[in-house]
Amino acid sequence: MRTQFSRHLVCPQHTDKQVRLSLESLQGKDNECVEGFLKCDTCQTLYPIVEGVAIVVKDFVASRQAKDDRYEEGGALFVPYRWVQYDHSSEDRLLSTLKWRLKPNEFYNRIVHTISLKTDGVALDMGCSMGYSTLELAKKYAFVVGIDLSFSFIKEARRRLSTSQQENVEFCVADSLHAPFNYMKFDLILALNLLELVQPTDLLSSIHWLLKPHSLVVFADPYDYNYQPHAKQRVDAQTFRSMVEKTGFELVQKTKTESHIPWIIKIHERAYLFYFVDYIMAKKLSKHKA
Ligand SMILES: C[S@@+](CC[C@H](N)C(=O)[O-])C[C@H]1O[C@@H](n2cnc3c(N)ncnc32)[C@H](O)[C@@H]1O
Repeated sequence: MRTQFSRHLVCPQHTDKQVRLSLESLQGKDNECVEGFLKCDTCQTLYPIVEGVAIVVKDFVASRQAKDDRYEEGGALFVPYRWVQYDHSSEDRLLSTLKWRLKPNEFYNRIVHTISLKTDGVALDMGCSMGYSTLELAKKYAFVVGIDLSFSFIKEARRRLSTSQQENVEFCVADSLHAPFNYMKFDLILALNLLELVQPTDLLSSIHWLLKPHSLVVFADPYDYNYQPHAKQRVDAQTFRSMVEKTGFELVQKTKTESHIPWIIKIHERAYLFYFVDYIMAKKLSKHKA
């Protein structure tokens, strides 16, 4: 983690006030902290920085216990996400037999393509996984932060960042529902394929809190609960759109109706999941001036 990034973080324990964290670096070089702590001087909570990854989650122990290990290294979805975002090849048995040419990461390119350039803007990618969409977004925005609950994904995203040599990106382990940032901070939030893993109403409130007035949020989701059978709050294209509107957003005209963007993920050598993902862009309604 770059040391300057700590100035943008607030303690996720305090919902009523915004309390900054101070950095205690134990090991690092060239403005990078490799091992250390972020400390809240109000509640004394320490947030570790391990292998350069800051872990700024509200209750670290509870989040480890409740955690979805499918997205950690060795988990069932670690390699599939590496494939979909970075490592697929045109030699792949299924992709090479398809008549219609499909590049798995094309899904992310298509989504980011719909987002206008904002060279002075700050964006947040929630549930960013290995950061493919984050790094694409960083070509359009001045600064982008990618957050995910998976330590392994964030570690890999940071590795990709160092090879991409982009300097306007930072990644950390954080919860989208208790994100460690000041309210009204972001000009754009991206939340791709996240709805099955969180309570959508909580996610919408968190996004509303973090977005600057009149700023945009982009969702893309297949609403597939087969892998999340215990999800308490299930949505589909219609119910989610009305939830978005009720939370204080206005749907962008072209996304008022359901869409079907192809997305393919290889879950093992002989099995793939093919989705048609729905895409939604919405603007935060606000009395504040833009
Ligand atoms: C289905 S994957 C989608 C990843 C990526 N957005 C994409 O479309 O390729 C969901 C991701 O969200 C992360 N995640 C789940 N709950 C989260 C939360 N509350 N806050 C942040 N990330 C979360 C998971 O670790 C996982 O990487």
